[in-house]
Amino acid sequence: MTVELIPGLEGIPIAESGVSFVDGKAGVLEYRGINIEELAEKSSFEEVSYLLMRGELPSTSELVSFQDELRSNSRLKFRIVELIKCLPENGHPMDALQAAIAAIGMFYPPRHNLTKEQRWEASMRLVAKTSTVVATFERLRRGDEQIAPKPELSLAGNFLYLLNGKEPDAIQERILDVCLILHADHTMNASTFAGRVVGSTLADPYCVVSSALGALSGPLHGGANEDAMALFSKIGSVKNAKTTVDRMIAEKEKIPGFGHRVYKTMDPRAKVLKKYAEELAGKSDNPHFEIALEVEKIAVAQYGEKGIWPNVDFYSGIVYTELGFATECFTPIFAVARVAGWLAHWLEQAENNRLFRPTQKYVGQHGQPYVPLGER
Ligand code: ACO
Repeated sequence: MTVELIPGLEGIPIAESGVSFVDGKAGVLEYRGINIEELAEKSSFEEVSYLLMRGELPSTSELVSFQDELRSNSRLKFRIVELIKCLPENGHPMDALQAAIAAIGMFYPPRHNLTKEQRWEASMRLVAKTSTVVATFERLRRGDEQIAPKPELSLAGNFLYLLNGKEPDAIQERILDVCLILHADHTMNASTFAGRVVGSTLADPYCVVSSALGALSGPLHGGANEDAMALFSKIGSVKNAKTTVDRMIAEKEKIPGFGHRVYKTMDPRAKVLKKYAEELAGKSDNPHFEIALEVEKIAVAQYGEKGIWPNVDFYSGIVYTELGFATECFTPIFAVARVAGWLAHWLEQAENNRLFRPTQKYVGQHGQPYVPLGER
């Protein structure tokens, strides 16, 4: 039987999943059937992680005990901190995160044949420790002392505390919390697929997350927000936006943070982030938001009818910059959130596993002679 090759598996379902859903035409994203915009307004990252990984919203007592578990798992073993100290400070934080997560798994047996309870414990541990690893590497590489998470803070609050060494104000904490909610899952993207493939071999969840991290680190997946920020900085002021964007359009150069394989209208996550970018820009001298608005206006007038609209990356860089994050932290923040989605997919895969073993279209030769070394 000849099966047609679909490059990049575009449009090919690879699993049945109840974790998240996207309607690209209507611009809708749901986690377990609940609209992302409602979750962004009313929920917390901890609650959304529970929802994704357990499949339903927690009761009050379930949420409290889940938050307690996350807090009690948020510290790193000193040997992991020592390992992070050995990594080059000019290395990319995504590589440090991938190395540390793989190493953390060595401390928590069993590696294989986990029971349902052990899978859940490992999932909580990974959600809790990912943000601590990102913040610890960031502190250590800029020469600051490592500090321990504060048990009374939320995961978003602790992340900001660990990075900045002081407790965040409530608005900063809430905005980061919303960013984490918005990035927690997005159906069958490259990193989620990578994690599911590794999970299908029954490899342990630390390997699952570290392979998903490797996939996320590539420039075609995480990171267009860095390019969007670079564009806004290069434009420099609102009056220059039209010249730059018109030139990009004329030269068919892609506008970073615009367009999406699935969304053919404004990405619902971009809508929420735009609101927060505006709120933060109101308190800052930074012209990035005003420039972004102008770029959006010109680019939508040109491309909107073609279905090319702002995606999640268009405004997120502005929000992160205003929250004080270095540009290299943008993709790791994505990972801090997405680890919940990856694990939700891993837990789902584990319930009904079948090893991924696709096929190929062989285009090589057959029956070639072996030419002895001296005769080649
Ligand atoms: N600016 C201008 N034109 C665009 C843009 C853009 N940002 N995105 C797509 N187009 C145009 C292409 O030039 C192409 O035009 P053509 O038909 O005249 O040749 C058409 O739209 C289709 O483009 P593709 O790249 O084939 O669309 P695809 O669905 O494969 O790509 C992608 C989606 C990769 C996100 C693309 O829109 C892009 O490169 N955007 C810029 C980078 C970006 O923002 N990435 C983040 C995506 S969100 C995320 O991953 C978290």
